[in-house]
Amino acid sequence: MALPNKIHSWIIDHYLRDGLDGTELRWESRDIPELKQGQVLIKTCLLSLDASNLLWLSDKEDYLPQLQLGEIMRGNIIARIESSSHPDFFEGEYILTLQGWSDYAVVDGDALLSDKITMKIRPNPALPLDAYVGTLGVTGWSAYVGLIKIGKVKAGERILISGAAGATGIMAAQFAKAAGAKVYGIAGGAKKCQFLKNTLNLDGVVDYKAEQSLQLAIGELIPEGVDVFFDNVGGEILDAALPNMCINGRIVASGSVSQYGQAEQYGVKNLPLVTSKRLRMEGFLILDYIDQIPEILPVMEEWLLAGKLINKNHLVTGLENAPSALKLLVTGGNIGKLVVSVDKV
Ligand SMILES: NC(=O)c1ccc[n+]([C@@H]2O[C@H](COP(=O)([O-])OP(=O)(O)OC[C@H]3O[C@@H](n4cnc5c(N)ncnc54)[C@H](OP(=O)(O)O)[C@@H]3O)[C@@H](O)[C@H]2O)c1
Repeated sequence: MALPNKIHSWIIDHYLRDGLDGTELRWESRDIPELKQGQVLIKTCLLSLDASNLLWLSDKEDYLPQLQLGEIMRGNIIARIESSSHPDFFEGEYILTLQGWSDYAVVDGDALLSDKITMKIRPNPALPLDAYVGTLGVTGWSAYVGLIKIGKVKAGERILISGAAGATGIMAAQFAKAAGAKVYGIAGGAKKCQFLKNTLNLDGVVDYKAEQSLQLAIGELIPEGVDVFFDNVGGEILDAALPNMCINGRIVASGSVSQYGQAEQYGVKNLPLVTSKRLRMEGFLILDYIDQIPEILPVMEEWLLAGKLINKNHLVTGLENAPSALKLLVTGGNIGKLVVSVDKV
């Protein structure tokens, strides 16, 4: 196989300045170094664009080591092994891994084996490879873990999901429906709300952009109260949900995408209700559950093949378009998982 001689990457030029303006990254090309013993040349097939990219582009500390200016932007990718000088990796194998926004990378095989994030996958030929980014990838796993293991959702319960038309939200909604819950979503705009009602068959939706008071709108939609709130958004949306929780309700703190990259964080005013309503609010990081994925993934593959789940991705072509695609996350332009197809899939 003819190997390339250049690696093309997006480099961090500067951190976010009160939100994404599209100038944070610059394009660079470097020579591919020769493969040393123990190294592997990987080719990025698909790059996942995630809300966490905004955290990694900020100068604030988060749950991973902070990226420095001049470093390659970090991203979840599906890559194919193009060449290997490591005994445990073979040409043609696929890995799901946390690497960089590059078309190729030379990586240390032992580091891949020990980083607790990288997983070898054997994509089912009956499924599109991009299904392993969203539905069967990190956001799908997060929805599963958040809803089933943290939220412990039960049949008949009323579940409210924020960011419901986003990658994690879509999967959380599908798992909640499959568990027999009554499922309600919060999303911005008629198109997303129609998708949630008509395609995912949710029991009700609120278009937060069309409501004067989101708190009242949730109350009208779910007058009996919310048993489990799966929160992807945080900030004002969490504030509006809190007064609508049932006594002893549970809040799954999946993330606070509304706050990422903001210079000033929104102060949630209704937090005292956690006490008076005896709520349990619990966060999780999918990184802590990677060892459970080999058990969960075959089940999810089976559900997708059986038509119990749908695969909904927003695909953008070409690594060179990744920074402009990232803006869709901020403007709410994507329904489902935002994925950049770097190689032909
Ligand atoms: N805990 C974990 O391990 C884990 C793993 C993966 C993801 N997550 C979290 O899951 C959340 C969603 O991530 P994702 O990958 O699913 O992202 P996504 O596909 O971009 O979806 C996020 C959704 O949030 C909504 N949103 C964004 N900003 C908003 C705002 N200011 N107010 C209200 N809604 C807003 C957008 O929908 P609208 O157009 O409807 O506003 C968008 O559809 C993030 O908080 C992320 O950190 C957590």
